[in-house]
Amino acid sequence: MIILKLGGSALTVKDADKPTIDEVNLDRIAEEISDYNDDMVIVHGAGSYGHIYAKKYAIGEKITGKDENQFKIEGLSLTQASVQLLNYLVVNKLQEKGIPAIGFKPSSFIMTENKRIAVCDTTIVQRYVDEGFVPVLYGDAVLDLNDELKFAVISGDQLITYFARQLNADRVILSSDVDGIYTDNPKTNPDAKLIDIVTKDTKLLLTENENQADVTGGMAGKIRELLELAEYGIESLIINAEKEGNLRLAVSGEKVTGTLIK
Ligand code: IPE
Repeated sequence: MIILKLGGSALTVKDADKPTIDEVNLDRIAEEISDYNDDMVIVHGAGSYGHIYAKKYAIGEKITGKDENQFKIEGLSLTQASVQLLNYLVVNKLQEKGIPAIGFKPSSFIMTENKRIAVCDTTIVQRYVDEGFVPVLYGDAVLDLNDELKFAVISGDQLITYFARQLNADRVILSSDVDGIYTDNPKTNPDAKLIDIVTKDTKLLLTENENQADVTGGMAGKIRELLELAEYGIESLIINAEKEGNLRLAVSGEKVTGTLIK
């Protein structure tokens, strides 16, 4: 089974000031995946459909008073509706390309404790896979069991690591808008070099949140999740979904430019 993450930055215009789909990319990405017809779970990011609201309402930050609680309740409601809309657009596009996609709303069956998944039953997702469907989950805003937080954002990356372990995935593929992991931030340093293989011993130059539009930790957050997965023996591959053909190669198991985390 493959678990495939489609980064919010490839599906949406991530730094837009309102939720904006990247229709051309979404169409091509769905087309590239449609060749694959074995077991697969897709998890997509939120891009501008999630980060704008999550940031505005500071979802996942401590609640200090009654007014703030009310403000966050409003924020959670808006964030969930927005990312659910993106999920609908993605599922629709996948279906258009012949993929039997089933949208799953993570916040309806997942709760976190201190921002990590604490309540989640994967039985139904597994059953859909067994029956030949392709479940499609996404980064969402959820209830948190810590009363000081009450709400949290779960990234698609956290979902991937959780589901990869629970469903015994063979391969994990993460696609985003960069080629993989670099020795430095390639968007600011032209000398940054792509690293083929990253292990827990690889020394990396990463700031905690180099992408200000991203509330779930940017590339540093991703790598942390994937190294954790590697410790359980599941390798993952980071590729650039914006380069035509990459996803097609990656899902079919062929060689592709990217970074393997093991
Ligand atoms: C974030 O999900 C979810 C919300 C902001 C509600 P991700 O962290 O997986 O999204 P991308 O891939 O960075 O856009």
